[in-house]
Amino acid sequence: MLADVRYVPETPACDLEIDAIAEEAFGPGRFARAAERVREMARHDRSLSFVALLDGEVIGSVRQTPIAIGGVDALMLGPLAVRPAFKSRGAGKALMRLAAEAATKAGERSIILVGDPPYYEALGYRVLPRGSVLMPGPVDPARLLGLELSPGALAELRGRVTARR
Ligand SMILES: CC(C)(COP(=O)(O)OP(=O)(O)OC[C@H]1O[C@@H](n2cnc3c(N)ncnc32)[C@H](O)[C@@H]1OP(=O)(O)O)[C@@H](O)C(=O)NCCC(=O)NCCS
Repeated sequence: MLADVRYVPETPACDLEIDAIAEEAFGPGRFARAAERVREMARHDRSLSFVALLDGEVIGSVRQTPIAIGGVDALMLGPLAVRPAFKSRGAGKALMRLAAEAATKAGERSIILVGDPPYYEALGYRVLPRGSVLMPGPVDPARLLGLELSPGALAELRGRVTARR
């Protein structure tokens, strides 16, 4: 574990460091991803987005964006990234837990993301029923995952991902 890390909501002062971490983790190909199309439609919510700080430096980040799916409100989580030198020491999971806690407190009912099932299933995510959620771009259906914050919330998600009204 990284003992001295502080986890705090993101502020505009973090933006450049977060961009650098995303570039390091995903490279320029990140702009071609379907999740990026969603983030072009809707702005992430800083109060539901967190950074891991070590000695004042951002070493990890997670963002959450308010969206609607077939008219039902949900969040889309991503990107999640931790700087390579600090990987496998719990920062990723700590950011994920904080994101889910903050979303629950804010009254959100579900979170979706595109990611590697083995990592996220350990955090309660499950693969969404094939064809239920339509992203604005091609996504491997085995990587389209959801977390239920309120019982039955994932079953309500059917349709196209859009910005909230
Ligand atoms: C994925 C990522 C955010 C995890 O952050 P982290 O701080 O290293 O993760 P944690 O310390 O909380 O968890 C580490 C554990 O997750 C596992 N893990 C990491 N990435 C994984 C993946 N893609 N699939 C399955 N397991 C994974 C590690 O093997 C490790 O397992 P262990 O605890 O048994 O050793 C980080 O590795 C990263 O930034 N990767 C590049 C960007 C990325 O892939 N983002 C996620 C999009 S799917």
